[in-house]
Amino acid sequence: MLLVSPSLRFSFCFSLRLVRLVRLALVWCLQTVLLLGFLTHFTNQAECSSSSACPGLLDKMGDFLSPADGCVVLTGATGFVAGHIAEILLEKGYEVRGTVRDPSNEGKLAHLKALDARLPGTISFHKADLSSDDPFTEVAKGCVGMLHVASPAVFDAKDPEEAILKPAIAGTNSALRAAAAANMKSVVVTSSVAAVRPVQAKWDAEAAGEPVSKYTEEDWNDVATLDFGAYPTSKREAERAAHRFVEEQKPGFKFGTIHFPFAFGPQQNSRVTSSNNYISHLLLGEVPFVVPLCSDIVDVRDVAGAHVHVLENDVSGRFIVANDEEHFMYMSDIAASLKKNFPGFPIPSVTIPMPALEILAVVDDRISSYEVELARHCPGPRFDGSRLRDSGYVFQHTDVHETIREAGQSMIDFKVADGNRHLIPAAYVLIAIPFIVAGLLLWIISRCFFSGKKVKQN
Ligand SMILES: NC(=O)c1ccc[n+]([C@@H]2O[C@H](COP(=O)([O-])OP(=O)(O)OC[C@H]3O[C@@H](n4cnc5c(N)ncnc54)[C@H](OP(=O)(O)O)[C@@H]3O)[C@@H](O)[C@H]2O)c1
Repeated sequence: MLLVSPSLRFSFCFSLRLVRLVRLALVWCLQTVLLLGFLTHFTNQAECSSSSACPGLLDKMGDFLSPADGCVVLTGATGFVAGHIAEILLEKGYEVRGTVRDPSNEGKLAHLKALDARLPGTISFHKADLSSDDPFTEVAKGCVGMLHVASPAVFDAKDPEEAILKPAIAGTNSALRAAAAANMKSVVVTSSVAAVRPVQAKWDAEAAGEPVSKYTEEDWNDVATLDFGAYPTSKREAERAAHRFVEEQKPGFKFGTIHFPFAFGPQQNSRVTSSNNYISHLLLGEVPFVVPLCSDIVDVRDVAGAHVHVLENDVSGRFIVANDEEHFMYMSDIAASLKKNFPGFPIPSVTIPMPALEILAVVDDRISSYEVELARHCPGPRFDGSRLRDSGYVFQHTDVHETIREAGQSMIDFKVADGNRHLIPAAYVLIAIPFIVAGLLLWIISRCFFSGKKVKQN
């Protein structure tokens, strides 16, 4: 070994160090790549679970329509779902024309104005009532797309035909007429799973113990009538009117409808409307029990994302927004999920039986006999959301418990819920019922006892 020449020793030593250096560089590169990948993954995850600003949705521009094409009209901009649609559109840089019933109502518009100030897009407000003669033609002029979201979500109307059905149909016809007159490229109408389910044949099959397939875009609710389920009837008939308009008038725009079940998620302001009301009822402890209702659940931000996806891409027809098995819940599951995150709140845990729900439906206008019937058919077949996924939509908020937590947290942040119990009158009636029944029984027993004595004396 000692006899090896210095030059040979040098070159051996040099190549050994070179090999070590290259190996070190390779390991360092690999570590950096892995670390960057890891960080990017978790940054994206954190963004996705905290706001609607999910890279998958916002970075992706549609293949059919984009902000560069022109403005879009968003009807009923003050609503829960529309607010989240507005957030995505503004984040993407759209010029949005929002229609509202009362543009002077600051309380309903403040959160949208805040989004306008914070995000790249712009939103302006235009007065429009669904029942007016021609509410949308003026606002639609010059725009390329429309999301018709406004619809009366009233559940205790004295005259459901005037309050719900007529405005829903008239508003949809007006929206499509205005979109056609403006030569728009793309129109999306917000329908509901209420226009899809229930189907009597599936209920019959279920009753006969036969296997029942999931609800798909092929199904139409054939159970609801104006007297039995006015709201679902309004959604079905408004959607039918829309399909009829497209078939008969053959307008130049591409057309899609969105169907979703309970949409939960963060409030953008303190005005709780729509399905988030179920969360606020529980968080406020409005009744000391849970009703035996069940439903599929989606995150409102995915509902909004699906609207924008169908608006922007070359896809048309009906699209159900439904998630995986975990997203089917009974009210008791929702209450338990809330209780886990907000243990100090008066969230009930005991589910009342069906007969008690029937009594509640009598004393509380917000629960209809139609809902009682749906509850009777729980769990029933699920919704098949594969058509939307196959069209390229990627769900952004897939943890249902996180959706429920964020809904609850936003209500606490906006001081909707303060940790105190806020019983509603119907709850007092229901609490009183067992005492009244017990009192009546005692009275009957005592009457029998005394009348028995009298018979003996005679
Ligand atoms: N949330 C759900 O779980 C769910 C499920 C399926 C389908 N949907 C559908 O989703 C859409 C949005 O509802 P939402 O959940 O966001 O409820 P929401 O918060 O109550 O919003 C309803 C919107 O419609 C507007 N509107 C009602 N009647 C109107 C009329 N006559 N003229 C003009 N605007 C009127 C309301 O305006 P004001 O602010 O002036 O009242 C509000 O902006 C509706 O089409 C609803 O049927 C909701």
